Amino acid sequence: MEGTTVLTIAIPVLVALGALVLFTTSRRRDTGAALSREARKRDRSPSPFLEDDQAGAVSGREVELAAARAGRGPGTDIEPVRPSAPVAYVPPDPEFIGVTRRQFFNRSIIAMFGLGLSGFGAACLAFLWPTLKGGFGGTITVGKLEDILSEATTAREPFYVSEGRFYLNPFPSSAISTAQSVYSDAVLPGIEQGVIALYQKCPHLGCRVPWCDTSQWFECGCHGSQYNRVGEKKGGPAPRGMDMFPVSVAGGTVSVDTGLVIQGVPIGTNSTGQEAEGPHCVSGGSH
Ligand code: FES
Repeated sequence: MEGTTVLTIAIPVLVALGALVLFTTSRRRDTGAALSREARKRDRSPSPFLEDDQAGAVSGREVELAAARAGRGPGTDIEPVRPSAPVAYVPPDPEFIGVTRRQFFNRSIIAMFGLGLSGFGAACLAFLWPTLKGGFGGTITVGKLEDILSEATTAREPFYVSEGRFYLNPFPSSAISTAQSVYSDAVLPGIEQGVIALYQKCPHLGCRVPWCDTSQWFECGCHGSQYNRVGEKKGGPAPRGMDMFPVSVAGGTVSVDTGLVIQGVPIGTNSTGQEAEGPHCVSGGSH
């Protein structure tokens, strides 16, 4: 399953769980289910102020009246309330009020859940945020075309750009006319400038395809697919040539758009006619 699909399912599930926790917590308070087990047990036990035969058949108010009567004793007069001067309001000391253990745990659970959810949400956003500039998925400015071609030709290996996961290789000028009838319009401007950008991911099952110094081909170590210098398939189980990225050259500077993957050319394309120039690094299949 794709990462984005997992996130699309996981985010609503987590939000729903969070809402459920908040709802249950507030509901417990509203319905009085938040009473402790001891308190509920005490409520169910018979009152010491009632006769045995009265227990279970009286209301809470009657229990309170019975307790008040028991405290006063028989024949005691009720002291009348005398008017007194109003007492100035003194706000309670917040430290004295404090919070109950239950409130503390409830708030801690909600706070921890909220923190976890917001952290997960921030991570998802960071993951899904589009890369508009630089890095894989964006347009990468590589450097001067002249320097890149010179370095690749001298070293006899492609110019590798790890940040963009692609190789830049010279495209022979003698093969451009053949390429114009086979390659997509998106990569032709780069080819006409004498350079091609090849995605390192093998079109077979996605392994990184390394360069083989001896054969001067790309040769995949996973299942043996082989491609010539410009990524055209030469052997192995791959279904096509190596995928490519569009290249643009402005003012002699090469930029590669890694946000657009162009499918490799069909099997059988051989615009350069380059054969293996030495021993292979992996044994190619006969597909
Ligand atoms: S992944 Fe490259 S040949 Fe299979």
